[in-house]
Amino acid sequence: MDTKEPGHELSRRQVLSTAGLAAVAVPLAVRRSPALVRQADVTGAPGPEQVHVQFGADASSQVAVSWATPAAVSKPRLRLGLASSGFGRQVHADERTYTEALTGEKVWTYHARLHGLHPDTHYVYEVLNDGAAPVSGMFRTGPRGRSGGFRFTSFGDQSIPAPVGQGLGPWTVNAGFIVPAVERLNPLFHLFNGDLCYANVSDAPVATWASFFNNNTRSAANRPWMPCAGNHENEVGNGPQGYLSYQTRFALPDNGSDKFRGNWYAFTVGSIRVISLNNDDVCLQDGAFSAYRRDHVPNYAFNGDNPYINGYSSGQQKRWLERELARASSSDDIDWIIVCMHQVAMSSAHFKGADLGIRQNWLPLFDKYGVDLVVAGHEHHFERTFPVRGVMSGSTLLTPTAQGTNPSLMDTSKGTVHMIIGGGGHSSATPVSAFDMPHDGVLITSIGPGDPQTQHPSITSTEPAPWSAYRDLQTPYGFASFDFVPHEAGGTTSITVTHYGADLGASVYSKRDRFVMRKSLGQRHQHDQLAGAATTS
Ligand SMILES: [Fe+2]
Ligand SMILES: [Fe+2]
Repeated sequence: MDTKEPGHELSRRQVLSTAGLAAVAVPLAVRRSPALVRQADVTGAPGPEQVHVQFGADASSQVAVSWATPAAVSKPRLRLGLASSGFGRQVHADERTYTEALTGEKVWTYHARLHGLHPDTHYVYEVLNDGAAPVSGMFRTGPRGRSGGFRFTSFGDQSIPAPVGQGLGPWTVNAGFIVPAVERLNPLFHLFNGDLCYANVSDAPVATWASFFNNNTRSAANRPWMPCAGNHENEVGNGPQGYLSYQTRFALPDNGSDKFRGNWYAFTVGSIRVISLNNDDVCLQDGAFSAYRRDHVPNYAFNGDNPYINGYSSGQQKRWLERELARASSSDDIDWIIVCMHQVAMSSAHFKGADLGIRQNWLPLFDKYGVDLVVAGHEHHFERTFPVRGVMSGSTLLTPTAQGTNPSLMDTSKGTVHMIIGGGGHSSATPVSAFDMPHDGVLITSIGPGDPQTQHPSITSTEPAPWSAYRDLQTPYGFASFDFVPHEAGGTTSITVTHYGADLGASVYSKRDRFVMRKSLGQRHQHDQLAGAATTS
């Protein structure tokens, strides 16, 4: 793969040094409670924190930078420039707020959307407001088309590195250790497979989000961290489906729906189309229930709050997905379709289990339109499948059919590879005792009785697991890197995947697994191959 910096730009190390950004640190100034401070002073005003970057729908030209402040501020804005020429362009940031239902705290977020950027280019930026010191970061835009390879990374289920409030939410030191481990690999972007910080089970959800972003800004201020919403982003009471915090804090590519803004979206990076889904819409599992919120959100019962939101979009997400997949699969510019989602279609752990709702709703579309790769989380370990397509003969559980037997080299033109990368840092890692030997697949097939006051229990079945290619029973924490080559000699394109794992309490993430996904480029891409060969060999 080609991860070299472009010749006309400074290296990432040089940029960091030149711009004085070696630590893209969050200023510690003025962490006053937003419940107490409604309006900032012009002098000594609270400044930006929790800075993070996102790609727009076209990663080669669109980026959004987002941050929060502990109180309302004046003239939030971003200064943008190239490392070689300093800051020039200034962009106004939009303010978006929400009030946390549990505590009544108001949260202020700001979002600067940047358009018309140059592809494969390093930019530097500062975010600031009147009366406060600026906070700096940088990002690199994606290459255009098949002009160059790149690396990206992925994990889910991180939580936070230290307890907040009464410590009701999950945390481990690994939730902190994994951030520099990702940053060391210098990915172009990071896919975050849901269950970000578990604010929905915390007694201090606003502080939990702040801890999450302030922990991750070491990397997320320097490269897009692109999320999907997991079941723990559903904070019952915060908006109709509990996603108001998630929706307010991120500025994600438009999906055409104000109501479900950010819940699902897509972007193009190189010749890859990435699609982010919200699986709570289709999952049977009642995964967002929080006894603490039930007991402490004011007027919970009176408001009709309900954490169980299966079917909430009334098919809107599924219709959007089919349109999106049809467009991507017929595009001459797209060679790979990657889905980032939270709950899983296959799992061999007796932990939470895969969900039949995903098999019923998503997998037929993934088969029809040739999705290459799914990255997910929810199960707190690492596991991956062979390419799968279709359903095993006679299977009432819709068990997917494996289309290959080589765990080291996969042809995704034959089926979709599914990866569970759920070891971001949650304190309840999948225990070794959850894995059968030899192993079964575990599937949630229905739920028992429940209501907004009482969580529905999952009802599971087991199945043969010929789809299972590899699982890591040793290291519960980890992430994966993906080295993408848009075209190779012989007319193929590939993604080489490496899984890095670590034990609880260990800061060193070492290589644990490696495999290659490779497929032929279609005839329609031959022209592009020849045209781009000189720049991407
Ligand atoms: Fe999780
Ligand atoms: Fe989850």
